[in-house]
Amino acid sequence: MSTTAVANVPQVADFVLSPELIQFRDFVRGYAQQHLGGAAAYDAEVKFPRDAVQAAAQLGLLRTTVAKEHGGSAMGNLASCVMLEEINAVCVSTGVTISVHNSLVNSLLGKWCNDAQKRRWFPKLVTGEWLGAYCLSEAFSGSDAAALRCEAKRQGDHYVMNGAKLWITTGSEAQLFVVFARTGPDRIKGISAFVVEKSWPGVGVGKKERKLGLRGSPTTEIVLENVVVPADCLVAQEGQGFTIALDTLDGGRLGIASQSLGIARAAIDLIKAHLAAQLDAKGRPTATQPDQWQLADLAADLDAYRFLVWRAAILRDQGVRCSTEAAMAKSCASRLANRAARAAVSILGPVGASGQNAAERLLRDARITEIYEGATDIQRLVIARGLLAPS
Ligand code: CAA
Repeated sequence: MSTTAVANVPQVADFVLSPELIQFRDFVRGYAQQHLGGAAAYDAEVKFPRDAVQAAAQLGLLRTTVAKEHGGSAMGNLASCVMLEEINAVCVSTGVTISVHNSLVNSLLGKWCNDAQKRRWFPKLVTGEWLGAYCLSEAFSGSDAAALRCEAKRQGDHYVMNGAKLWITTGSEAQLFVVFARTGPDRIKGISAFVVEKSWPGVGVGKKERKLGLRGSPTTEIVLENVVVPADCLVAQEGQGFTIALDTLDGGRLGIASQSLGIARAAIDLIKAHLAAQLDAKGRPTATQPDQWQLADLAADLDAYRFLVWRAAILRDQGVRCSTEAAMAKSCASRLANRAARAAVSILGPVGASGQNAAERLLRDARITEIYEGATDIQRLVIARGLLAPS
């Protein structure tokens, strides 16, 4: 190809959102300003942001990853990431509820369920009448997800499910659970995915965790005792559960990466406002150089990692596996969220540390982004495996 030919084609990299996505981002920003003012109270009172989530449902924010034929808006992963950054910049408890519902439940159902299953569950999920939860982790299988022990034994036209799932986001509020259970002895191929409804006999909400942050988002145990699960609630085929779980987590990790961007942005905004308010008699900023350097580094990383998130989301929207890219996005963005929140507390000093503004809450909220949906070291493992895999 000649140099002229290269000069005359549109460039590959497009570092701005389309006008439609900018409009959507501003729409979500408006929702956040209008409905998420209670973020500090949800945290202080350990209260689920029910009204905020219902307002989001009414505005169509719980259906962005669902196809139009099933009542969704089919906006996809990039739009969902843009939305989640806006929501999480104001309220992480609302943010994680919507992220799990859209990226771990609706996406999974849309990709892996048959038509009858979609017609059964989507009408309730897209309207927010039901919230969804994703039940993979157990007491002895967190990072090593394939070590799960919950079992589903086939008996004629149904399965009998027994086990307990731990650290389930939205556990006490969800009416629909995607549950991963063992249907055979093979470590990987012995895992299957099921949809379980909360109203079924034997499904119970166990202990609620007392948490450092994200206190408005209920994290609970889900107990499954002799639950009769009709065979038509099996998702895809027996033995496909682990693939479904990890494929879905590639999308979920983008939700948490976007949450991390939101937290980082909120922390950077606090630092900016604090430093900009410190002026000398001539109106010049008096911020120390080290504080300015911190602000500069954080702001540059925020922009860079947002592009990592968008890249992975665009790949996923194109149907390309993005495990490595999603892990890069999550590991970088979640570490940034922690760094930015720590810097905000340090730079704002006693005001930041004492809860007089959002800095202290952001610091507590940021911590989990490096833990759930795959801890940072798991993301690094996924990245390294991706880099070392034979091409
Ligand atoms: N997409 C599709 N298939 C995938 C996949 C992906 N992203 N990743 C792996 N697989 C497939 C592999 O190809 C492999 O299939 P074959 O055997 O046919 O080749 C199979 O799955 C097994 O893969 P691995 O050998 O990589 O499995 P592993 O046991 O070594 O585990 C792991 C890999 C990366 C450590 C995985 O266990 C993991 O991601 N752990 C973290 C778990 C996690 O993120 N939990 C989050 C809980 S949910 C949560 O936090 C939500 C919330 O509440 C907010």
